[in-house]
Amino acid sequence: MKTKITELFGIEHPIIQGGMHHVGFAELAAAVSNAGGLGTITGLTQGTPEKLANEIARCKEMTDKPFAVNLTFLPSLTPPDYPGLIKEIIDAGVPVVETAGRNPAEYLPALKEAGIKVIHKCTSVRHSIKAQSIGCDAVSVDGFECGGHPGEDDIPNFILLPRAAEELEIPFVASGGMADGRSLVAAMALGAEGMNMGTRFIATQDAPVHQNVKEAIVNATELDTRLIMRSLTNTERVLNNEAVERLMEKEKALGDDLKFEDIIDEVAGVYPKIMHEGTMEAGAWSCGMVAGLVNDIPTVQDLINNIMSQADEIIKSKLQNF
Ligand SMILES: Cc1cc2nc3c(=O)[nH]c(=O)nc-3n(C[C@H](O)[C@H](O)[C@H](O)COP(=O)(O)O)c2cc1C
Repeated sequence: MKTKITELFGIEHPIIQGGMHHVGFAELAAAVSNAGGLGTITGLTQGTPEKLANEIARCKEMTDKPFAVNLTFLPSLTPPDYPGLIKEIIDAGVPVVETAGRNPAEYLPALKEAGIKVIHKCTSVRHSIKAQSIGCDAVSVDGFECGGHPGEDDIPNFILLPRAAEELEIPFVASGGMADGRSLVAAMALGAEGMNMGTRFIATQDAPVHQNVKEAIVNATELDTRLIMRSLTNTERVLNNEAVERLMEKEKALGDDLKFEDIIDEVAGVYPKIMHEGTMEAGAWSCGMVAGLVNDIPTVQDLINNIMSQADEIIKSKLQNF
């Protein structure tokens, strides 16, 4: 399938794996890229420029296809060494960067000068327009359904995508709630040029996370996610568990007086315990409502093949027959 996104990134299928903390390692990124999509290494999981350089090198050993690095810009008292991370990305010749979090304008000139394509992940039309105006090449439009941080507007993709299509000139992919060929065709009908998936890619054989995480997604329904940290204006969609229920009790009790320190046990440093040790009650971890559509743990290659053949079948048979 040829779209503006496949052309822009030099990939075969318009399917992107979004950056995911403690999931987006070289193994997953390479598997997605080898299957014809665009895989993504999560920069901040590596933390230091040296470790990121090593992860990029590992990915290059596993694939000769294009892949991306995600840079998430978070407010932090001790910010990561973003210029150092960017230098490694440029030196290694990584062709695409997925930015997320706050406005990446400060870092765009260095990336653009190096010929790197930048896709910015946004949860609103106004942020998408901003990304376009500062020179991003594409946008990943992340609807309210998404796993991770859906922003504070709560606009689902059935509205957000056509609104983005009305306003944007640069291509965009649909992100949040995407799982299969139906999602892809629907996203394209709403104006997107492809799709970005997070949660669906975790439940694959290639995702380098504990089996318990994959099974938790398979066992979850669309009713099992919760929104946390709303009063901190840092809303995150996570899979419900004991730690999340404890956290939500604190949110209820403290209301607007809630501070990050009150919930630190449930959110800080929990990813390694969950993703690598499989201790599922260790804390809150991002997961999309799309878990309700995930019922298997295929290889990434099979997942992407099935998405493309289902999309083809819908376009050529079902839609033609109406
Ligand atoms: C476990 C997990 C961790 C994530 N970590 C990040 C991250 O570090 N940076 C980022 O930009 N997005 C992150 N995301 C968001 C994904 O890249 C993607 O935008 C989102 O999962 C799309 O929604 P979906 O889960 O419904 O497919 C994460 C998502 C999940 C599920």
